[in-house]
Amino acid sequence: MAPDRGSEVLVDIQSMETSLNTLSVQDDLNLAKTSAITTPSPDGAYSTPPHLSHDPATNAKHADPFQFGQRYLSESDDVFEYNAWDHVVPDAAHDEYCESQYAAQRASPVSDFDRVRFNEHPEKWWDLFYKQKTSTFFKDRKWLVQEFPLLKDVTQRDAGKKVVLEVGAGAGNTAFPILRINENPDLKIFAVDFSKKAVETMRDAEDYKSSNGTMVADVWDAASDSLPLGVEEGSVDVVILIFIFSALNPKQWQQAVTNIQRVLKPGGEVLFRDYGRGDLAQVRFKAGRWMEENFYVRGDGTRVYFFDKEELETIWGGAFEISDLDVDRRLIVNRQRRIKMYRCWIQGRFRKRDQTH
Ligand SMILES: C[S@@+](CC[C@H](N)C(=O)[O-])C[C@H]1O[C@@H](n2cnc3c(N)ncnc32)[C@H](O)[C@@H]1O
Repeated sequence: MAPDRGSEVLVDIQSMETSLNTLSVQDDLNLAKTSAITTPSPDGAYSTPPHLSHDPATNAKHADPFQFGQRYLSESDDVFEYNAWDHVVPDAAHDEYCESQYAAQRASPVSDFDRVRFNEHPEKWWDLFYKQKTSTFFKDRKWLVQEFPLLKDVTQRDAGKKVVLEVGAGAGNTAFPILRINENPDLKIFAVDFSKKAVETMRDAEDYKSSNGTMVADVWDAASDSLPLGVEEGSVDVVILIFIFSALNPKQWQQAVTNIQRVLKPGGEVLFRDYGRGDLAQVRFKAGRWMEENFYVRGDGTRVYFFDKEELETIWGGAFEISDLDVDRRLIVNRQRRIKMYRCWIQGRFRKRDQTH
């Protein structure tokens, strides 16, 4: 395998700017989740599972049905043979390149005028975002149940009364797949978003209308000091946060965590996935987008933060037990143009401690 070269990535990323303009939100919303890096063997040791590589010891040329998280890059692989490789840790040169990008971003922050404009009424920018997209823009998150088996449990026929609350539900690409697999007559799905347009999009969907009240979409700001309409304190079994926490201003994190803690039952769980530090979407931000460390405003006025693991442990670790919090990395390759790009997401589960509430 040829070593990755940070400078190559720098040139590549710049030349890819046009096609990447659609990558930030769309790709992150649509790309599937990779599986765990390692698999426990019966003796408790961890090993690399069969995957798409040339190493005969672990080679499984393809998976059927196709799953992400299986294509490992090894020494003997040609990085440009496939479009994507999973769990590739960027090398030191790439890290250096990222740091130089961050320094340049810091040196040209967002203007004071824009800082106010984008932070004052963030829901308006998301409204605009949803107004500009047709329903075919959004793709369902079919990998969710595979990654979060709890969703399978609550949708079982005999699961009993269960309440799922999706916060920042957008067009419903998480809530609808759950609704479709649901066999539990006692399941209630609250899908809330602070964008009125997003809520309208969900309510207009056929699946919503035919759910006969199983799914309820409503407007709610996760950083407000009230709870969503119809959601009682201590009544929710599962809260889903998929690429919504990154849309908050860091000053709003505490209020959002408090709200989520309030609605959850003791032992209830948060299912979390969001942007990881060093993701391509972060590294490629240009001048005039940096608001504070790891927090930016996109060209469309929506805000985005990039997390690292320790930070999430601090934010959630007080009232929640943290499980399976892991960074999910993918190396995306443009084979024709010999371009390498790193994507980075972070995923985990936070369980409300029994004694808190
Ligand atoms: C990147 S989108 C993700 C949408 C959806 N979770 C998905 O995965 O398809 C972020 C969503 O969070 C919503 N959002 C951002 N800040 C919010 C807040 N404070 N309260 C509620 N929703 C919010 C936005 O309107 C947007 O729909």
